[in-house]
Amino acid sequence: MRRKLAAGNWKMNGGSAELAEIRELLKSSSTAQTDILICPPATLIERMRALVADAPLSIGGQDCHVAKSGAHTGDISAGMLADAGASHVIVGHSERRQDHGETDAIVRAKATASWGAGLIAVICIGETLDEREGGKTLDVIATQLDGSVPDEMAPETTVIAYEPVWAIGTGLTPTLEQIGEVHDFIRSELGKKFAERADGVRLLYGGSVKPSNAAEIFGVSNVDGALVGGASLKASDFSGIIAAL
Ligand code: G3P
Repeated sequence: MRRKLAAGNWKMNGGSAELAEIRELLKSSSTAQTDILICPPATLIERMRALVADAPLSIGGQDCHVAKSGAHTGDISAGMLADAGASHVIVGHSERRQDHGETDAIVRAKATASWGAGLIAVICIGETLDEREGGKTLDVIATQLDGSVPDEMAPETTVIAYEPVWAIGTGLTPTLEQIGEVHDFIRSELGKKFAERADGVRLLYGGSVKPSNAAEIFGVSNVDGALVGGASLKASDFSGIIAAL
């Protein structure tokens, strides 16, 4: 009932030359049975949108401001992302939380702003290594979920990405049991707050996903896809992950 989603977060990588990877990805993904999303730097959104044309590949932003417009030098609003052709936006990525001091309240406001602009919000949560080792993972996840996901949440416009901070770009991944424990917990926490609305929300795992570990991760209960960083930059790697879904 929940369609799988393979999402790529290019982070601060890629320019005109890397559009070739999207041309390549389009060839291999035309028969994919899953939804595919690429979130390039904002500078590439419009060109990537034009490139994918009618292909079943969505384009998203990596962040948005909480306001619709105004004196916020360097920032981009959700409406601007939509205007450039984006259908999704990542909010609350741990790199934004760490590098820009984004709190759960800010992430929540960004999710609301995304919905206001007609975008699907990919809301990221995840514990640090200290929190994992201190046995606080589920508490942290509960707090972030409660603080970052607005009450008006609708499953068709919401994706939750569980990204343990210590697994991002490190080559380390939690065990399948640990991933399953957190994803089951997220589903159950969402259920407490949103009742049947929780069932349709897609839960992505993110953190060092690659073609060689994708299939086993996708086999874990309540994993509805992945949010992929490094391995989404090359069409050959990302199409291997899509194929595993
Ligand atoms: O948002 C995706 C991400 O943080 C995971 O990055 O490079 O570990 O796949 P990576």
